[in-house]
Amino acid sequence: MANQDFLNEINKRRTFAIISHPDAGKTTITEKVLLFGQALQKAGTVKGKKSGQHAKSDWMEMEKDRGISITTSVMQFPYRDCLVNLLDTPGHEDFSEDTYRTLTAVDSCLMVIDTAKGVEDRTIKLMEVTRLRDTPIITFMNKMDRDTRDPMEVMDEVEEVLKIKCAPITWPIGMGKEFKGVYNILDDETILYQSGQGHTIQEKRVIKGLNNPELDAAIGNYADDLREELELVVGASHEFDHEAFLKGELTPVFFGTALGNFGVDHMLDGLTKWAPTPLPRTTDVRDVAATEEKFSGFVFKIQANMDPKHRDRIAFMRIVSGKYSKGMKMRQVRIGKDVKIADAVTFMAGDRANVEEAFAGDIIGLHNHGSIQIGDTFTAGEDMKFTGIPNFAPELFRRIRLRDPLKAKQLQKGLIQLSEEGAVQVFRPFNSNDMIVGAVGVLQFEVVVQRLKTEYNVDAIYEPISVATARWCTCDNPRTLEQFEKKAYDNLALDGGDNLTYIAPTMVNLSLAQERHPDIEFHRTREH
Ligand code: G4P
Repeated sequence: MANQDFLNEINKRRTFAIISHPDAGKTTITEKVLLFGQALQKAGTVKGKKSGQHAKSDWMEMEKDRGISITTSVMQFPYRDCLVNLLDTPGHEDFSEDTYRTLTAVDSCLMVIDTAKGVEDRTIKLMEVTRLRDTPIITFMNKMDRDTRDPMEVMDEVEEVLKIKCAPITWPIGMGKEFKGVYNILDDETILYQSGQGHTIQEKRVIKGLNNPELDAAIGNYADDLREELELVVGASHEFDHEAFLKGELTPVFFGTALGNFGVDHMLDGLTKWAPTPLPRTTDVRDVAATEEKFSGFVFKIQANMDPKHRDRIAFMRIVSGKYSKGMKMRQVRIGKDVKIADAVTFMAGDRANVEEAFAGDIIGLHNHGSIQIGDTFTAGEDMKFTGIPNFAPELFRRIRLRDPLKAKQLQKGLIQLSEEGAVQVFRPFNSNDMIVGAVGVLQFEVVVQRLKTEYNVDAIYEPISVATARWCTCDNPRTLEQFEKKAYDNLALDGGDNLTYIAPTMVNLSLAQERHPDIEFHRTREH
């Protein structure tokens, strides 16, 4: 039986990520969340200002300078009785694969909406991904210090477009220059906003009770408007229901301004109170509960050169069950080896620190010298593999060519390692010595050529190639598969992990191939 201290450690963990459209305020909220977590003395130091606004060409320099800005990193901080893990996701949509995989490692998400704009594209896409696992969603309606759209209308839009019920927990009073604060519907109290205090934790000015005359004294006519509006809002929206929230069917909604640091703490209170403790994960053998004492975890992300001072790769592992302690041995299931992990790292506001121990729900970083791949499962000895970490069929393709033909081996090695990291996908056609690089976003191509140069000393360039899409092919019957390999030879390739892939020059060609080979399954996503 697990002892109580162990259970307490796990039950206080909350692991979440932020989903939002660029510019909605993710970076600003992250700063304020860390301010509340007391990981930072003063907000505004997590990332350089305007990180989202850099031109594409600045990207390489940016990553070099700051290391953590675009690719995923993890921040852990205490809040009330909880220990919160916030997983950052790349802001640029060209790195959306990383974001999708990061969402497999969290137990809940914070959805940030710019209330002046409402529901935007990226948010719709990311919500679709969270739906695959029914991840519980908390909503923050940001930028109330600006002239926003009607809050009720934006909430309706969330319900309609994202197909999730909204339960307002707080309700805004005024907006823009006239933003007065929020009324907390569950606690029946008004929290007043003071502008110009975005960089500090504001002293809370709270007025209990909606009919309290103090409220009229504090906000004048807005008090009566609020009373009227609330009748409508409460009648027209959903009541908070914890079960429905945990099933991903209903989202509690908070209003505020991240820039003015108002409302972020209300959201954090909700998150720590309601968001799930570390959830179980599925393997090919059985489900694994967080409270099992035996250690297990999976790798969802590999990142190179996080810090120019440490030129290595870090494999990010979500601990699913049990506890990591420094120096422990774990089984890397794919290669069937026991490895001793003496130097796992965590990332607190960008700094590395050695972790002595970590529990289910936490993320640890393992130094990777090329032996760890995305999707790898680590256990206390059991042979099982966590499922559900996706690879997406790339949408963009280029042929990669060497400037120096003698470096073919290095190129192949580099590309295969980079594909194992998930930086890019690589395909080697059966009928030629070409290497085709596939990506989900265009920036991935640039990153790969740059990294081939600095890490593998290979000078490569791209050439256009007419490929529309790729599909991973499987079939239970080895004879059928063999025949397929002969007949479709000119369109087949192996990916970086030696998986059979159909390379389609056009979508029509793909449909024809599917018709011709009905016993072959063509997959748009592949699990690691
Ligand atoms: P992102 O990570 O989601 O892309 O968004 P980020 O936090 O970088 O915010 C995007 C812009 O929106 C920033 O402005 C930021 O200051 C602003 N912002 C974030 N939250 C609020 C808010 O609650 N109210 C208002 N009024 N603005 C907010 P910027 O133009 O990049 O910088 P700045 O010139 O405003 O400093």
